[in-house]
Amino acid sequence: MSSFVLKGDICYSENATTLHTLQGGYLVCAEGSSLGCFESLPGLYQDWPVYDYSNKLIIPGLVDLHTHAPQFTFRGLGTDLELLEWLNAYTFPEEARYRDLAYAEPNYQAVVRNFVAGPNTRVVIFASAHTEATLLLMDQMEQSGLVSYVGRVNMDRNAPDSLREADAEVSLQATREWLVAAAGRYRRTYPILTPRFVPCCTNALMNGIAKLQGEWNIPVQSHLAETLKEIEWVKELNPGCRHNADVFVNAGLLGGAATIMAHCVWCDEDETRVLKQSGAFIAHCPQSNANISSGIAPIRRYMREGLNVGLASDVAGGMQTSIFRAIADAVVVSKLRWRLVDTGDMPLTFAEAFYLATIGGGAFFGRVGSFRPGYEFDALVLDDEAFSTSRTVTLAERLERFAYLSDDRHIAQKYVRGEALFAPAST
Ligand code: GUN
Ligand code: FE
Repeated sequence: MSSFVLKGDICYSENATTLHTLQGGYLVCAEGSSLGCFESLPGLYQDWPVYDYSNKLIIPGLVDLHTHAPQFTFRGLGTDLELLEWLNAYTFPEEARYRDLAYAEPNYQAVVRNFVAGPNTRVVIFASAHTEATLLLMDQMEQSGLVSYVGRVNMDRNAPDSLREADAEVSLQATREWLVAAAGRYRRTYPILTPRFVPCCTNALMNGIAKLQGEWNIPVQSHLAETLKEIEWVKELNPGCRHNADVFVNAGLLGGAATIMAHCVWCDEDETRVLKQSGAFIAHCPQSNANISSGIAPIRRYMREGLNVGLASDVAGGMQTSIFRAIADAVVVSKLRWRLVDTGDMPLTFAEAFYLATIGGGAFFGRVGSFRPGYEFDALVLDDEAFSTSRTVTLAERLERFAYLSDDRHIAQKYVRGEALFAPAST
């Protein structure tokens, strides 16, 4: 790891509503951390290598708080189904194939290659209910240079025999073995406990996962309040529970451990209060929620009430892995929610969605998602030359345009914890 300076047109979120922009500025990285941005290079750093990206945008790396690596193979398919039908028709049969490492290997390679080429520097991943394939994915993520959490999925009910684990104890024992195998093996790839969602997990399994959480002190991820049918089903399976979050609380989860809950489309006031008290992160998956007709999550309300929110792709509920796409979709669906559901909640602005994509989700990883001094140095260098016209645009407008129009080919360089992922362009 090294210390260096990037020169270019720098943008990052000051807070949820304000972008900080600096044209032709200097961004200083020391041993994987940001030392901040400067209009002119301070004397202290005069001898450090300067990489000149003049006229290119430099922004923090984007964070995907929720995706499914084994579902990469069928993204863009089955888009006429709702969640529960889609799980049975596409998801479960596909995930069952990851028992076979010969199937898992090339397909995990494909998804990891896609992650590296795109704008996300941090990813929180559901693997499948298979220990060996999950470790294989973790090995590949470690190799990739990206920072990730990867979860071996727990599921002991309501799934086909080909995927469902025999009972809670079998699932927990396999999880223990996976945690032991992963311990000490990685520098930037972390395990995360992953009870799939309440319909797939008996209370015995949820209780056991809470116990493992206490023993290992690692975070937890799951799905919560994604669709109305799922919520009804959860109430049938757990009579007396007020909502989905109740089931986690009763099991001893959501009690302070770092937690990501994907979707949260339909949380009522009480469920929102429980999530806020626990400090859980909401992974907002706008493309998936639209694609499988789940609904429009009330992100404006969550932000107003001070919940932790980040953005997520939820492949293959969503089709695109890029969190630039999630930024655009978060803004678009918030407008529909304002117009069609609740005129009291104003649409998200671009600056707010960019904040969620960087600092919002980055906070799950610690000091991530900004260039303020002390933040881990995840940065993207973006070439927006292809979008320029005679029109004069501000730096903030260039960023907004890039988010809506770019694809992976426009990413010139990508740094994660201060390490460059792409070979330098030959000049
Ligand atoms: N709920 C339970 N499993 C899944 C999944 O794989 N994708 C989505 N979107 N929701 C889920
Ligand atoms: Fe999901």
